[in-house]
Amino acid sequence: MKYLVTGGAGFIASNFIQYMLDKYPEDEFINLDALTYAGHLCTVERFQKYLNYRFVKGDITDRQFIMDLFSKERFNVVVNFAAESHVDRSINDTSAFVLTNILGTTNLLDASKQYGVERYHQVGTDEVYGELPLDRPDLLFSEETPIHTSSSYSSSKASADLFVLSYYRTHGIPVTISRCSNNYGPYQYPEKLIPLMICRAIKGAKLPVYGNGLNIRDWIYVDDHCSAIDVIIHKGKEGEVYNVGGQSERTNVQVVNTILEKLNKSKELISFVADRPGHDKRYAIDFSKIKSELGWTPRICFEEGIAKTIEWYMNNEAWLREVTAGEYQEYICKAYGI
Ligand code: NAD
Ligand code: TYD
Repeated sequence: MKYLVTGGAGFIASNFIQYMLDKYPEDEFINLDALTYAGHLCTVERFQKYLNYRFVKGDITDRQFIMDLFSKERFNVVVNFAAESHVDRSINDTSAFVLTNILGTTNLLDASKQYGVERYHQVGTDEVYGELPLDRPDLLFSEETPIHTSSSYSSSKASADLFVLSYYRTHGIPVTISRCSNNYGPYQYPEKLIPLMICRAIKGAKLPVYGNGLNIRDWIYVDDHCSAIDVIIHKGKEGEVYNVGGQSERTNVQVVNTILEKLNKSKELISFVADRPGHDKRYAIDFSKIKSELGWTPRICFEEGIAKTIEWYMNNEAWLREVTAGEYQEYICKAYGI
């Protein structure tokens, strides 16, 4: 099988490529990435030793380039991770989100239609369901929960999902969609909550927590997300959406306190800052469909996953230096004034 994995120089897709190279040495993996601010070659250097792996620099918004690539490579499976992925950035710049997340997805769908694939998998997010209230812990997102988006990020991802499902209905493209909760683990760009807090806490820098810090996310260790996508590609039913969750709901303050405790740092580093506009209160996933139909459950609990993640960031200073060398300092300054 020949796979096209898009966005593979970013966080989740690079972990996915590693997972797949280890599990399927007979298959071939082509990593297509535009190397935006979030994609880095140092994240994928370790794959060069695999003969069944190739990196291609390219942009999924470039329709002709995508058509030519599909015509030349004849992929069996497409797994679309490539996206603008940060809610905070989407507040100030919607256009990049529309281009990559929507137009990029439809280019990949058109190429899949034109050249034929055995599976097109869209990596989606639970954020398309909007927010749950904090005082109803009994409520969870199911695949039937209506789409109700809050940010340009989630709106663009929801739009992409709708296109994917429409290509199934109208053109019979064999699609699947996963909608996963918040990931954490190695190689995550330090703009997202967990790596940002780990990296700043290591340096003894202030930790900007939005609002009162009581918003809740369901955290999943990235390897568990990778195994869920693997199972959906191999056993999932065409045209179906599968929710994927980590069964680890935590408030943001709980997450940050855990990081501080593990690093033996003072809670005084926490700085409560102005809330994110449109900040979703709570995400929580009902993953009973993928569990009962495909036999998948998350395996790594939050305590184990966060310990592994902290250790990884402590041992990979060179990676961190490289990915924060470009526009990163400017972004942090502008976003937080620190
Ligand atoms: P990321 O920002 O770390 O990586 C995105 C990658 O896509 C980068 O390597 C970037 O260079 C590449 N890219 C961006 N625009 C591109 C374009 N136009 N053409 C080609 N490549 C492009 O993102 P991530 O956190 O790894 O998320 C990957 C996917 O998983 C996204 O689709 C995201 O919506 C989804 N997702 C993420 C989470 C999470 O918690 N991070 C949760 C659920 C779903
Ligand atoms: P984030 O990692 O950006 O993921 P998402 O917004 O897609 O869930 O944020 C996770 C939570 O952490 C979210 O409730 C916002 C909060 N947060 C902060 O409090 N401070 C920060 O600096 C960041 C980046 C996030």
